[in-house]
Amino acid sequence: MFSELAELPPDPILGLTKLFVDDRRSKKIDLGVGVFRTADNRTPVLDSVKAGEALVMQKEATKSYTPADGAPGFADSVISLVFGPDHDAVRAGRVTAIQTPGGCGALRVGGDLLKRTNAKSIVAGEPTWPNHKPLLAAAGHRLRMIPYYDGTSASVNFEGFLGELQKLGADDVLLIHGACHNPTGADLRRDQIDAVVDVAAKRGFLPFVDIAYHGFANGLDEDAYIVREMARRLPELLVSYSCSKNFGLYRERTGALIAVGETAQRANAARSQAINIARGSYSLPPAHGGAIVAEILQSPELAAQWRAEADAMRRAIRESRRLLVRTSAEMQMGDKLAYIEKQFGMFSLLPISEQQVLQLREKHGVYAAGSGRINLCGVNLGNVEHLCEALRDVFGAGT
Ligand SMILES: Cc1ncc(COP(=O)(O)O)c(C=O)c1O
Repeated sequence: MFSELAELPPDPILGLTKLFVDDRRSKKIDLGVGVFRTADNRTPVLDSVKAGEALVMQKEATKSYTPADGAPGFADSVISLVFGPDHDAVRAGRVTAIQTPGGCGALRVGGDLLKRTNAKSIVAGEPTWPNHKPLLAAAGHRLRMIPYYDGTSASVNFEGFLGELQKLGADDVLLIHGACHNPTGADLRRDQIDAVVDVAAKRGFLPFVDIAYHGFANGLDEDAYIVREMARRLPELLVSYSCSKNFGLYRERTGALIAVGETAQRANAARSQAINIARGSYSLPPAHGGAIVAEILQSPELAAQWRAEADAMRRAIRESRRLLVRTSAEMQMGDKLAYIEKQFGMFSLLPISEQQVLQLREKHGVYAAGSGRINLCGVNLGNVEHLCEALRDVFGAGT
């Protein structure tokens, strides 16, 4: 049977990491894979996570199966983190959640859940995180792309985006990034979010909000605005939540699928269907990461420590953005990169072709994704000049 199977190439982003590791040049720069890194290129375990993990290990009395919705306390803690301590929708019991294997697990279970509804199509702004397409295709959906990012102005083409939303109906789903758009870094402003919610209320489509970088744009409460507002003004929505970046729990595969229903009964129904879908796939989520998150969020001291650490990551990314823009200006490169300072989260798109991405890598040892996406965490005082020289070279003379 396996003779029917062709061997597939590695995932482009994971393949890029291998190329970077194998590169012998000392001046190489990794701007590829989407993990947070410190200025000395580490992705450390957060102190709050180490402390939470120690408590989990100390209290652990069994390795028996976890409950179907994940580690005890996880779902409620994440709901309260995302919606705040006193959101009306939460008080009314309209918000339910299950723990999933990372944000990817939540997107996939969410996709399967939508297959059990009257959802006809899922639309997303162009470009989106490349893995959205296969994750939702595996659940039987074809993602339809609508305008979102305007490369010329390096900002959101809001008119084009909103215009397409106005054509959606009650059997459509809008997959929308929570904060820190991947790959562009171009987020909606609050007034633009309000306008999207207005259209959703009028047209009746279901928002599916993908939150993978909660806290990395403007702060934990600020970044949750879109979800809190939608839950306040719309009858239903889905949220996929990832603890990979903000808790640094990448390999523990920790996330949540959150459903907001028009009534508590509908939210419970969505949750029971999600549990049923998981049971027919991976059965139950991994316990460890969920237990750590629950331990942290349920302890006022650990929660405060974690919030401070999440905020420090946010400020470090802002600083890297500033550093790149300032250095490029000092190196007489004009304002070609000025937009990077106005964007949010770990990523921005460089205004270069795939050919130039290749040139960056082969000639200068600068590794970016094929789309021109860079992870700003890879930019630091030690490499920013080399990066700017490389960019100046591929941008061409005169910049
Ligand atoms: C936009 C977006 N959504 C979801 C995820 C899922 O993350 P994970 O499955 O690692 O929690 C990511 C991770 O890179 C992402 O960038």
